[in-house]
Amino acid sequence: MSKSEAEIRAETIRLELHRHSHLYYVESRPEIKDSDYDLLFAELKTLELEWPELITNDSPTQRVGAEPQKSFGTAEHSVPMLSLDSTKNLEDLVRFDKRIKDLLGNNPEYLLEPKLDGASIELVYEYGVFVRAVTRGNGQVGEVITENAKTISSLPLRLLSSNRVVPETLSVRGEVIMYLSRFEELNKEMLKKGLNPYANPRNSASGSLRQLKSRVTAERPLELMIFDILQCPDLAVESDAEGLEMLKDWGFKIVPEALSVTTLNEIEKYYRSYEDRRDELDYEIDGVVVKINQLDVRKELGNTSHHPRWALALKFEPRKATTRIRKIVVQVGRTGKLTPVAEFDPVVVGGVTVSRASLHNREEVERKGVRAGDLVRIQRAGDVIPQVVERIEEENTPRGKEFRIPNNCPACETEVIERGPFSYCPNRFGCSAQLKRGILHFGSREGLDIEGLGEEICSMLVDKGLVSELADLFSLKTEDLQTLWKGGKKAADNLFVAIQEKKSIDFHRFIYGLGIPEVGITVAKGLANEFGNLPALQEASIERLESIDGVGSIMSEQIYEFLHSDITSNQISAVLHQGVRLTPPKISRSSEMAGTTFVFTGKFIRIKRSEAREAVESVGGKVSGSVSSRTNFLVAGEDPGSKLQKAKDLGVKLLSESEFINKIKQ
Ligand code: IVH
Repeated sequence: MSKSEAEIRAETIRLELHRHSHLYYVESRPEIKDSDYDLLFAELKTLELEWPELITNDSPTQRVGAEPQKSFGTAEHSVPMLSLDSTKNLEDLVRFDKRIKDLLGNNPEYLLEPKLDGASIELVYEYGVFVRAVTRGNGQVGEVITENAKTISSLPLRLLSSNRVVPETLSVRGEVIMYLSRFEELNKEMLKKGLNPYANPRNSASGSLRQLKSRVTAERPLELMIFDILQCPDLAVESDAEGLEMLKDWGFKIVPEALSVTTLNEIEKYYRSYEDRRDELDYEIDGVVVKINQLDVRKELGNTSHHPRWALALKFEPRKATTRIRKIVVQVGRTGKLTPVAEFDPVVVGGVTVSRASLHNREEVERKGVRAGDLVRIQRAGDVIPQVVERIEEENTPRGKEFRIPNNCPACETEVIERGPFSYCPNRFGCSAQLKRGILHFGSREGLDIEGLGEEICSMLVDKGLVSELADLFSLKTEDLQTLWKGGKKAADNLFVAIQEKKSIDFHRFIYGLGIPEVGITVAKGLANEFGNLPALQEASIERLESIDGVGSIMSEQIYEFLHSDITSNQISAVLHQGVRLTPPKISRSSEMAGTTFVFTGKFIRIKRSEAREAVESVGGKVSGSVSSRTNFLVAGEDPGSKLQKAKDLGVKLLSESEFINKIKQ
């Protein structure tokens, strides 16, 4: 076969495979046997092996195969991904409806959909080819998880064009969910492997999407349902319902059971019907969404900075269950906070089995008046974290003793101190419970991400005297680790390697892992990007720290105090002394292009759009989907679209493809 014959054959197979995977994963009505699909797939693989230059980004062979990433880049959404206004009170719906009717002077049409409880993402297509997936993030900017999203079988890598013209650019929004049945299976497997299970399907979906190894994501049973067109420049539809039809024709799996109605009665009926069927569904929903169907009306109503004025989420009451408290234990956290936790008979709340719930603090226990042995009502707050709602009174049942926060730390006996309703163990660096939590945090997914360093192992490491500060982790030998597992040489070897591998670690992960009070991953990234290296961070003044996004005055003082305490500085030095090297963030603030915004239009000849985007991001710039007054450069390829005119009108600097390449090279 000649190369050009191979090229034609490869493209023919790709089209066939796209069509069949759509029939299988989206429409659930396959036309060919799995084995025939596999044959076609194998043929394509063979062709691509012989002529690697024939591999396209949207080839079905490219769903899995990307190299593991070190971290995720970020990208601005084509248009802000807003939140929804929500209520649990149907009276608010009446008010919502009235306000709209008053404003319009006539009756609107509503489109109703279930509110899927998963992870919201944006998918971008250029010339019908999937190019990018971005998590919702803060609504403006999210993490680029393209390779991971590709592994979701129902995500079209190329839009189907048999019924519809494919737009030049398209950005859609949907929810990635995990079916409940598959979620429970996954958790069982994680437990078997000694990993921490996910708290609920939503965390599991978003955690799976944020794996640095897309092979791991590929093994997770994720599903994607689309419900919104975020941007499509020449959109020729008048209603949301028509938009959904269009999405369906392009090959997307759309949100199920969307219904268009005109009366409040119909809305209530839809809401009740979902409420009744909620436990029978194999996915979590936390309400229904009421949206105005007509797009011109939506435009007229507009958005607040937080949510559109044309939609309202009607949320369900959180699910409740009753159970009996076995005992109330006290946990000592990473920062020394003592938290009373109720342990109860395992009970299923909304499809998830729970057996413990935080009682937060001394005052909360008093307010709820719960004791060991009490019958209580449990709910999952926001359908996620289990909470004890109230005690259920029982007649003629003798009660246990009243609970009291101990005067001394249950782990190290140090006398506890009280701050407001909270109690703390002040023995920050000598308390074994705090150390255990500190190590767990250091090795956690967003920290050094040390696989196998779970709660139990951290506990044993401290109890056996193998680790008495963070740095000790790196001098552990496999012989030490073998004492933790009965006959588990393989597990010990794996953990040893997992720890040693993290001797080279991204700066922001290290900052996060240190466990500075209140510093989450976003702030850690902000600090890493701003300071670039540890000495610069350590030298920063409180004022300078406060200038970082997300850092307030209290946090800046805490960061400062943490970094300047002798004990923490010694701990950090000890870790570095073990040969741990911190990788500075890719984005360098000093770059001339840092902070500038680029927009691309038209076709590029010398580089791919994805490469252009990466190049911009690697020097700290941003790529946006639309031209605005904040755009610094418009890069125009062949046949530029309407963006060119807009850029000219706004006086945005224009670059040709070659000029852009030269600029980046500089
Ligand atoms: S419409 C802003 N429709 O709910 C308008 N959102 O609290 C776009 N969600 O994270 C949202 N199912 O991703 C819409 N059928 C549905 C939805 C839905 C789930 C999510 C959405 C967002 C959250 C808002």
